Amino acid sequence: MTPHATIAVEELDDRVVVTLRRPEARNAINAAMIRELHEVCAGLEENPRLLLLTGAGGVFAAGADIAELRARGRDQALQGINSRLFDRIARLPMPTVAAVDGYALGGGAELAYACDIRLASPAATFGNPEPGLGILAAAGATWRLRDLVGASVAKQVLLAGRRLTAEDAWRLGLVAEVVPADDLLKRAHALLDRMTRSSALALRLTKLVTDAPGGHPVTDDLAQAILFESQEKHTRMDAFLSGERS
Ligand code: COA
Repeated sequence: MTPHATIAVEELDDRVVVTLRRPEARNAINAAMIRELHEVCAGLEENPRLLLLTGAGGVFAAGADIAELRARGRDQALQGINSRLFDRIARLPMPTVAAVDGYALGGGAELAYACDIRLASPAATFGNPEPGLGILAAAGATWRLRDLVGASVAKQVLLAGRRLTAEDAWRLGLVAEVVPADDLLKRAHALLDRMTRSSALALRLTKLVTDAPGGHPVTDDLAQAILFESQEKHTRMDAFLSGERS
């Protein structure tokens, strides 16, 4: 474990586990947490591994830190303090999983939306109450949530203050699974274990192509061209053809 002020970071060979940890503010995302999460991203860009992101104390994150938000003006908004971090997380080379127990509100919800896959406990609640604070959910919710659940539900959340329960989130496909809080991390690790059985390069290129704006058959072909030349492809296919099944 590396010591940090607002997060706990566990570095493993194939994954990094980050736990948001500001119990006094329900894990609200402040400048220190942004800085520390950028450091985690830098490590994952340099040495690509899976990311598991979760929150301590039965909360994922209760949003951006409202005391800090209150003090920010136009210039800070234009810096995209939260949105740049969430974009960086979304663009991490390897898949990311958010394990959400309790509240994921405002920026906390947007952080979960920026991950590739979400798991939830029955207590998980997703919401974007920003207009109630006189602001916009400007760190991805207006378009990521729409991509994840469709415009109709996204507008219910963004405009009408609808909070999605774990059950709602599961029905809508926002979360892959709802599991008891005590099993949440175990299930998340099992999901990551499943991913580690695939070729890391294939996962990486699949994520890149899936997220490529607009999509284009040429991108698929280029990524496949790289994978077709990889030794791992031959080893894995030879293993299958000789009867090995993972
Ligand atoms: N920013 C800063 N501080 C926050 C915070 C946030 N987003 N969310 C919670 N906190 C602080 C509270 O001010 C409180 O501090 P205090 O103990 O010094 O008074 C502490 O965390 C506990 O919050 P509290 O509201 O008492 O906890 P709760 O369990 O009753 O409610 C929430 C939890 C998440 C429902 C509630 O805190 C909340 O609505 N938070 C704001 C959510 C929001 O609007 N997020 C969008 C921000 S963009």
